[in-house]
Amino acid sequence: MSSATDSLAGAGWLDRVFCEDALSAVGGLARIPDGSVDLMIADPPYGLGKDYGNDSDKLDTAAYLAWTEQWVDAALPKLKPNGSLYIFLTWRNSPEIFVMLKQRMTMINEIIWDRRVPSMGGSTRRYSSVHDTIGFFARAKDYFFDLDAIRIPYDAQTKKARSRSIFVGAKWLEMGYNPKDVWSVSRLHREHKERADHPTQKPLEVVERMVKASCPPGGVVLDPFMGSGTTAVAARRCGRHFTGFELNPDYCELIRQRLDALAPAHQDDEALRTQA
Ligand SMILES: C[S@@+](CC[C@H](N)C(=O)[O-])C[C@H]1O[C@@H](n2cnc3c(N)ncnc32)[C@H](O)[C@@H]1O
Repeated sequence: MSSATDSLAGAGWLDRVFCEDALSAVGGLARIPDGSVDLMIADPPYGLGKDYGNDSDKLDTAAYLAWTEQWVDAALPKLKPNGSLYIFLTWRNSPEIFVMLKQRMTMINEIIWDRRVPSMGGSTRRYSSVHDTIGFFARAKDYFFDLDAIRIPYDAQTKKARSRSIFVGAKWLEMGYNPKDVWSVSRLHREHKERADHPTQKPLEVVERMVKASCPPGGVVLDPFMGSGTTAVAARRCGRHFTGFELNPDYCELIRQRLDALAPAHQDDEALRTQA
């Protein structure tokens, strides 16, 4: 365990997913000490009526926006002063939510996750929507951000094309270029090896980039809406700690299975414990 988390050793909330409402009055986010989290990755219900085995995505727009403000105000104090937040949203609600968040944090980026939806059919009275909107926010100007950890390597052909002497030794050529704010990563289809039984599971490639860029090694990632546990799996694979919540007990079991299935190199001493 790194010095970043030495002080948290033995904390009952670390490397643990609580199978309960993140806003529970008898647990929930209150379990986590203020100022103890490096990064929050939040992938809440989008307010589009999805079935998560509960009514969490069945609120009307006004109630959804009020609920969003409620969990944001419960969760933000958990971040360290140099911590940051990525929030997955749909374009339908992101404008209002970004305005609300900008009253509390500094907006760093709007990231477009292009889900690489194939070009067949689609909407006929508007443009087909094929992206999710991700807000990247920081608590302060000196927020943690490790660009080198997420550079995208050039392929051999591109490197060769840039082999003129002025480029030799250039860091960006050797280590790769900075990711842009449009991320083209296929959504998970049934046949993807990574796919679990959850309707809105996010790809590890997307979540791991957030973890590597915005949480120091050995740091802590909080996800209030774990779903199939992508954030927990990404954190463990990247050598970070995690904590979070999930309402649906079937998904809590899925999280346990996904963590158990990680190669031993990705297992750490503390087994995941889910708590009813
Ligand atoms: C969009 S999904 C998260 C998907 C996840 N990122 C993944 O990759 O699998 C949202 C999840 O939040 C859960 N949820 C909804 N309201 C909740 C609440 N108040 N507390 C904890 N979990 C909640 C839902 O059951 C659902 O699984």
